[in-house]
Amino acid sequence: MAALGVDFPVMVAPMVGISHVAFRAMLRRYAPKGLHPIIFTEMLSTRRLPSERLETTAELRCTGAEKAGVDWFIPQLLGNEERFITPSIAKLIPLNPWGFDINMGCPATHVLKHNWGVRLMGEPKYAADVVRLVRSCTDRPVSVKMRGGSDKICDLNYLDEFTQALEEGGADWLTIHARTREQGHEGRADWHLVGEIAKRRKVSVVANGDIQTSADAVAVLRDFGADGVMVARAATVRPWILWQIAEDLGWQETPPGREGERAPRSRAEESVEFFRACLALVDELDQHFGDRPEDALKKFSFFAATGARWFMFGHAFWAVTKKAKSIDHLRELMEDYRDRFDHPIKDRIV
Ligand SMILES: Cc1cc2nc3c(=O)[nH]c(=O)nc-3n(C[C@H](O)[C@H](O)[C@H](O)COP(=O)(O)O)c2cc1C
Repeated sequence: MAALGVDFPVMVAPMVGISHVAFRAMLRRYAPKGLHPIIFTEMLSTRRLPSERLETTAELRCTGAEKAGVDWFIPQLLGNEERFITPSIAKLIPLNPWGFDINMGCPATHVLKHNWGVRLMGEPKYAADVVRLVRSCTDRPVSVKMRGGSDKICDLNYLDEFTQALEEGGADWLTIHARTREQGHEGRADWHLVGEIAKRRKVSVVANGDIQTSADAVAVLRDFGADGVMVARAATVRPWILWQIAEDLGWQETPPGREGERAPRSRAEESVEFFRACLALVDELDQHFGDRPEDALKKFSFFAATGARWFMFGHAFWAVTKKAKSIDHLRELMEDYRDRFDHPIKDRIV
């Protein structure tokens, strides 16, 4: 990944309803000084993008630092047709994204109906043509996020053929969510498969799926041979995982404002940090979605629901977030709950 100018081989995945500007800004508070984690937007429909307005569409909001190229983000495109992809990329260029990603992993029915998402994994030549098309619209890095298998099995030979076609189509790097379409987000991801593909490709290959702890991320990089690692749901419960991984990879710097500290690790430290992260997210939601408070509250609840699976009494926490009537009220509820909170954050869920 270093050849592409990436200084930190850790990224955060596209997640619908979660990967908005406020979440990205909160996560970056945990990036040690000097490192630029690439953070994805949620998947964006290229059918809709051409007619959407940059200023008012919630999913297209960006920070000033992102637009200035100081912080790095990648919009993920959903689609396969030139008449939509070309104007979509033209629309996004003014936001100054670091690159563009093509979704070839989403298994949702409405996505499959249009031959988007994981359906694109069915035909290597066709998928490579989509890469060629995106490649022809931009000189920024182009990547593809796919699954380990399009249906019930992760088939190394097919994935080899498929990723080779994408490489020949001009993809600069590839991310493999090493679960099959049938697995959804459940069960163990096959990191061996990612390592095998990384050995066979010239372009960088990033592992995604089931990266729940810093130890997972380090193992995937050092023991399984991935070139990069993409954290997804774990970033909703342990956003400081970026800091932990940097520390475990030997990076000495801390996030700005946290000089002299070590990344939270113990049960007590993580409990305290969780509420600090929640309050930081509330502040970012206020800043970026203060004009649509109901939307901001929904975004917070969805974040809480996703991360709460790692708590013993996660449902109770989520229920508290649902009571909020305003952003200030949400802040009060978080502060109150923090003082009564004593739940360990589990390392792993199954
Ligand atoms: C709420 C949610 C929304 C997601 N949205 C997207 C998406 O827009 N694009 C995409 O490629 N993957 C999406 N994913 C899949 C994640 O990017 C990731 O591949 C998956 O969660 C596996 O990683 P994990 O086991 O570490 O969570 C989504 C996952 C979740 C939980």
